[in-house]
Amino acid sequence: MGFSRNGRNLLIAPSILSADFLRLGEEVKSAEEAGADLFHLDMMDGHFVPNLTFGPPVVAGLRKITTLPLEAHLMVLHPEIYLQELADAGIDRVTVHVEATTHLHFVLARIGALGMKAGVALSPATPVGTVVDILDMIDLVLVMTVNPGFGGQSFIPHSIKKIAAMRTLLDEAGARHIRLEVDGGIKAGNLARVADSGADTFVMGSAIFGDRPCSTVFGEIRAVLAPPG
Ligand code: DX5
Ligand code: ZN
Repeated sequence: MGFSRNGRNLLIAPSILSADFLRLGEEVKSAEEAGADLFHLDMMDGHFVPNLTFGPPVVAGLRKITTLPLEAHLMVLHPEIYLQELADAGIDRVTVHVEATTHLHFVLARIGALGMKAGVALSPATPVGTVVDILDMIDLVLVMTVNPGFGGQSFIPHSIKKIAAMRTLLDEAGARHIRLEVDGGIKAGNLARVADSGADTFVMGSAIFGDRPCSTVFGEIRAVLAPPG
């Protein structure tokens, strides 16, 4: 599964935020057939970010129609409130924002105790060093490349330096098993540059669930990233 570039295994994670919610099942199946590696589910509470999306019942529905991994990107305050329900709904990984909880260590421990993988997300102004003391509790770091809350925004150029700094931090810590995910403004056109800065997991929302069939978009992705091997 996935793609490769510079010897690194790369994964594409379509975000359903930009999908047609009235045809969500069909949208997910077509992204899966086109080459998705996992699905990225953006949950927003109207407090941490000024937008509302969906919660565990939608996850439970998606769990019935795809066997691909499901990751929840929680853009909510008090993420601990939702963890049991997400585990029951069949989520594989929960990613929480450093900025959204006072007790990050506690929340990550709870995610692990519920049998899910844990990720940590950093908004654009949050320094890479905030992950240093919890590296042994996570299998993914998400570097936000837009301010969280909405799909269809432009990639923040400074993110390239930040991704490179996070790559160095993870490599120097010997944490090569931790995936480095990017989210916001990722398109086939900037994929190579972002991959070369050190990211290995790419959330794509409006690029995949836009006006064009997602098979066309995955064709463009394949033209940039080689198949695995
Ligand atoms: C934004 C979300 C993203 C969003 C990305 O807060 O976290 O996952 O869906 O959308 P695009 O790819 O359109 O920037
Ligand atoms: Zn997201």
